[in-house]
Amino acid sequence: MDEHEPIELAKGVYWVGVVDWNLRDFHGYETPKGGTYNAYLIVDEKITLIDTVKAPFFSDMARRISRIVDPSKIDYIICNHVEMDHSGSIPDIMEMAPNAKLFASSKGEKGLAEYYREKGYDKWDLTVVKTGTELSLGERTLMFIEATMLHWPDSMQTYLKDNAILFSNDAFGQHIASSKRFDDEIDDLITDAGIYYANILMPFGSQILKYVERLNELNVNPKMIAPSHGVIWRSNIQEIITAYGHWASGHNMQKVLVIYDSMWGSTEIMASEIVEGVMRSGVEVSMRHLRKNDWSLTMKELMDASVIAIGSPTMNNDMFFTISGFLTYMRGLRPKNKKFFLFGSYGWGGGAVKGMDKELEIGKFDIAMESMEVKFLPYEEDKKVCQDIGYKLGEIAKANANY
Ligand SMILES: Cc1cc2nc3c(=O)[nH]c(=O)nc-3n(C[C@H](O)[C@H](O)[C@H](O)COP(=O)(O)O)c2cc1C
Ligand SMILES: [Fe+2]
Ligand SMILES: [Fe+2]
Repeated sequence: MDEHEPIELAKGVYWVGVVDWNLRDFHGYETPKGGTYNAYLIVDEKITLIDTVKAPFFSDMARRISRIVDPSKIDYIICNHVEMDHSGSIPDIMEMAPNAKLFASSKGEKGLAEYYREKGYDKWDLTVVKTGTELSLGERTLMFIEATMLHWPDSMQTYLKDNAILFSNDAFGQHIASSKRFDDEIDDLITDAGIYYANILMPFGSQILKYVERLNELNVNPKMIAPSHGVIWRSNIQEIITAYGHWASGHNMQKVLVIYDSMWGSTEIMASEIVEGVMRSGVEVSMRHLRKNDWSLTMKELMDASVIAIGSPTMNNDMFFTISGFLTYMRGLRPKNKKFFLFGSYGWGGGAVKGMDKELEIGKFDIAMESMEVKFLPYEEDKKVCQDIGYKLGEIAKANANY
């Protein structure tokens, strides 16, 4: 197949996005599998483009559209989200199709004005739409659904009623680059969707639960969910909606996650002994050195785990810098219902555990049990204590799990 071939989702409805094979860092979120920016084209009496792609990929998208229609013939452009991975090509496509009408949420309009005031915004014919607003394309009708804080204030979704296709923008996305376009063609997609959820949507659980209710009220029962990243859900729709419900309500599995850093190996020895103890309790455990593991994948493990042990050596009176970075990231993502344990090695005055403790307090996180510190090197008796702690953390994980 030609690399710029569009993919037909339903009669007259096409994927016209791009695959970013070498994407490894999406605004700081590690993407080892790459990613896609999905745009969609509906050919009806009005030719409609739903979202665009990151600006450097504009010509790829335009070539794909050209296989179906002349891009200058586009009548409507829906901007579901102003973030640049989706709105970035609007100035270019508006230059090609200057008479096209743009549609965005009210916050979307303000965002477009901010981003593109020097790129043609003043000339654009823009209409603000709300939840329930309908737009006839001729044979078919679109309905808009505001999805505030999924994941920006302007976020919106578009529902093609006649085909029951929900263009969900960033919700239900996954960062994977693939020549496949549908969920049933990819193994273990729920894990990729979970990594995406943990890093992008985790802070917004309560909004997601309300949003799922709103879909029911609006009688939106999609047969297809076409997000702005990754593949399209056509076979496992109930599974992904159910998974969002679980993640949004703060699910906790019987799992302990041990994250740490270490300069000379002492904190690492403590981490390994804790892991041994957890294994003795029969609970699943995972150990992640923060300079050797992708934080985005670690954050998915953190979302699943019910107990998190964090270890840091003291460096210059404070916690190690990867730990403080990770704690800042985690605090913003607001994981729910987790229990924490802190440990680490120090040489003289210490400070790592104190620093981590302060961070957890700011984030209002729960401490599972008293922290443990070792001066320089952990010896046999310290290792035994770490193992016992691990075992207890396993028991706490069993009690705290809800899934
Ligand atoms: C660059 C550097 C700075 C350090 N600063 C401190 C400090 O301010 N206070 C302290 O108690 N120990 C300090 N230490 C000592 C370490 O905390 C100690 O060696 C500890 O056992 C390291 O644990 P690790 O083997 O897990 O890296 C420092 C060590 C290094 C290498
Ligand atoms: Fe976004
Ligand atoms: Fe996005």
